[in-house]
Amino acid sequence: MEKFLITTAIDYVNGAPHIGHAYEKILTDVIFRHFSQRCEKSYFLTGTDEHGIKIQKTSAQNNMSPQDFCDMNAQKFKDTWKALDVNYNQFIRTTDEQHTKIVQKIFHKLVEKGDIYKHSYTGLYCTGCECFLNSKDLTEDGLCPDHMKKPDVVEEENYFFKLTKYKDAIAKHIKTHPDFIVPSFRANEVLNQLENIEDISVSRATSNVSWGIPVLGDDEQSIYVWIDALSNYITALGYDTDSSSNKYSEFWPANVQVIGKDILKFHSIYWIAILMALDLPLPEHLLAHGWITIDKTKMSKSLGNVISPTGVMEAFGLEIPDPLRYYMASAAPCGKDGNYSDEDFKEKVNAHLANSMGNLLNRTLSMLVKYFDGNIKPEFLGKNVLKQSALDTIKSVKHHFDYFEVQEAAQKIIELVDLTNKYVTDNAPWTLAKEEKMVECGVVLTNVLQVMTVISSLIYPYCPNIAKAMAEQLSYDINSKLDDITCESVKVGHFIDKENIKPVFLRIDSELADKSKK
Ligand code: ME8
Ligand code: MG
Repeated sequence: MEKFLITTAIDYVNGAPHIGHAYEKILTDVIFRHFSQRCEKSYFLTGTDEHGIKIQKTSAQNNMSPQDFCDMNAQKFKDTWKALDVNYNQFIRTTDEQHTKIVQKIFHKLVEKGDIYKHSYTGLYCTGCECFLNSKDLTEDGLCPDHMKKPDVVEEENYFFKLTKYKDAIAKHIKTHPDFIVPSFRANEVLNQLENIEDISVSRATSNVSWGIPVLGDDEQSIYVWIDALSNYITALGYDTDSSSNKYSEFWPANVQVIGKDILKFHSIYWIAILMALDLPLPEHLLAHGWITIDKTKMSKSLGNVISPTGVMEAFGLEIPDPLRYYMASAAPCGKDGNYSDEDFKEKVNAHLANSMGNLLNRTLSMLVKYFDGNIKPEFLGKNVLKQSALDTIKSVKHHFDYFEVQEAAQKIIELVDLTNKYVTDNAPWTLAKEEKMVECGVVLTNVLQVMTVISSLIYPYCPNIAKAMAEQLSYDINSKLDDITCESVKVGHFIDKENIKPVFLRIDSELADKSKK
């Protein structure tokens, strides 16, 4: 693999990010970091979706200009991703000047091609979805099923995009590329939706919606909603510009575009049609993740159960985001819904990261210091019995990531940790030392350290800070590419001093963790 481009959905900036937004960005960051360990160049694009009637209304309620309101909230997203170590290369805002200009050009191209036409229209508009709904999509009471609100009746002359023209080509693409939509069980859903597709409105009257990108040459109409939002993936990269830093030609098409299942239709149908209309290459995969519930309940403002990711970090006094990243990234099997609960969070990260993984490294290094002054002797090398298991784990982690099975990959890593723990228990190096079987004891400790280097590489995408701390104590290069790993990086010589041994992760709520914070 030469290059890797991954994108996320761009979030609406009505408020601060919640744990559902964080789930998507963490998942993406973990996938990004994994593939960065496998290819030469990689790029991660995220951002915010800032136009539309909802922002126009909410900013007015807050007595702010829409731009100031967007600036304020976009910053909250950036701050949160920073706190979570979401390591994107680029953050696009749909109010960026470059984006606005290219969207206008894209719109114009589609008009010239005859794929966008003007048409009088009466429709049911849901502000929550920022889209028109068909009457058959509504509940029995005439409400939007997602937002449980009555849609507005909108009567306007709008521009329409000829989605129907691309219906057959999209169906064909989905059928001939069974791994295009991930997980594949969602492909049938999309094919069914395609059956009933109609041309879509891609502009609104400026008199009704002023907070949008004006149509070039028609200032009565603003483009926004999906042509605006979806185009971000290429405008951000500098599509149709000749700037020297053009990432479009370097990286497009995306290897994977990560989105929630609620917006799969917009990506697998609308976005693909737009790309086809522009004669541009299609993304290789669309990964539609599931939804995060809180204590098994849908998160909503009205229920007051919206969880802020930085709020979780504060509540548990976390100085690094690793536990939350680990927990969220392994919250659900690929494409399925997941759940957040405080209790489960604490239990899982304490068990996996502190008790199993962190502790294993800590006691192995401590024994190396206690029995051998922190030295690896030549006789300790050569019987690397865990090596095959470690190399097999790398293989299966890669395989799971090839299918974006991030939770499943994490399970494989923890299985390797458990296997290594069992190896320590079975071989009891402390007993070997007592019996003065020092070479055997040294072999056991060295084998564990060799595997720990592999574990640090594999856990790195999930827990970059913990992995770096592990690698430091193992004198291991955490930037190693996965294909270069031999499980033989521990060499003969002085390995570590007592004062350099530090727990890489302390149990949440442990006394020690509390003390270290004070
Ligand atoms: O849909 N669990 O923005 P958005 C998991 N601007 N994921 C969730 C979630 C939850 N509880 N709640 C939201 C938009 N998401 C558009 C996208 S892309 C060109 C335009 C996910 O702020 C959701 O599925 O409503 C989506 O992928 C992302 O967060 C942004 O949602
Ligand atoms: Mg949404």
